[in-house]
Amino acid sequence: MNTEIDWGSLSFGYMPTDYNVRCTYKDGKWGEIEVSASPYIPIHIAATGLHYGQEIFEGLKAFRGKDGKVRIFRLDENGKRLQSSAHGLLMEPVPAYLFREMVLMAVKLNERFIPPYGTGASLYIRPVEYGSSAQVGVKPGKEYTFIVFVTPVGPYFKTGFKPTNICIMRQYDRVAPQGTGRWKVGGNYAASLESGEKAHSMGYSAVLFLDPKEKKYLDECGPANFFAIKDGKYITPASDSILPSITNKSLQQIAKDMGIEVEARHITVDELESVTEAGACGTAAVISPVGEIDDLDTGKKYVIAKDGVPGPISTALYNTLRGIQLGDVEDTHGWNTIVEFD
Ligand code: PLP
Ligand code: COI
Repeated sequence: MNTEIDWGSLSFGYMPTDYNVRCTYKDGKWGEIEVSASPYIPIHIAATGLHYGQEIFEGLKAFRGKDGKVRIFRLDENGKRLQSSAHGLLMEPVPAYLFREMVLMAVKLNERFIPPYGTGASLYIRPVEYGSSAQVGVKPGKEYTFIVFVTPVGPYFKTGFKPTNICIMRQYDRVAPQGTGRWKVGGNYAASLESGEKAHSMGYSAVLFLDPKEKKYLDECGPANFFAIKDGKYITPASDSILPSITNKSLQQIAKDMGIEVEARHITVDELESVTEAGACGTAAVISPVGEIDDLDTGKKYVIAKDGVPGPISTALYNTLRGIQLGDVEDTHGWNTIVEFD
């Protein structure tokens, strides 16, 4: 156990850990997995990842339970999504077995950085793949590098599980209508930086983007999906420009298990008038309850958490999701991978 880390006050940031793991696809095949103690990578100056944005990543977490076991949440789902992102950018997909093996290796090699149970912190796992072949013509590369590193983290939004305010700004899009929104592509995040920083400077945690084509429907919520509770139903935007969040899918299943109806569909901005709860959800955000949504173009303010506390359904969903991840609630859907330490 690492005694120098103040686990309870960790934020969502980078902290060096002991090792990362790497593997390169070259000459038509994946090579040997390399364990590295260096946080740096040698990269060719003409790599397609640097010039033409052939870069994709994932984000998942490992949790230490009360029983001392370490669980990784939905490991294979993240592996599948990385493959889908790879197909989107004509990159070489990382095979499921390799993704699994490298994630497990990275977690095991950094066991002393897995936060203890009860601290609210977890081990964030960041797989990243980029085009590493030297090329100046705009075409897909031939060589790809896949790396997995880990870092212990606390809550993404400073407020933790307390309502936070978000805003709508129509002059920015995160992605194009038929673009890369459904994939976890670095460029999507680059495109969200300016609006995100503007929102932060005005005291908001995130931008609630509208659909990039019509600016009519709710879309992605900063680096997370958006959901709301309306007439007792769990509603969440369905669109090709949204990243299919594994947390959102899990919450939809948990909601169904609780007997709550789920609707994944277009949600208009006006519908915010009649929602009783709302939240941003994702691996980093978990559930971040939304207090108020301010439409900066119309001046309209949608006050969701009227008494300043998260709503009952969001709270129940949060407790069940966290409970499953920590091993406190039965994992009836087989979402956790238990890490076997030798
Ligand atoms: N949307 C965006 C843009 C994200 O970056 C993330 C984070 O991964 C999510 C949604 C949530 O996805 P997940 O729940 O799979 O982490
Ligand atoms: C995540 O939720 O894992 C994310 O990737 C969001 C952000 C940190 C990029």
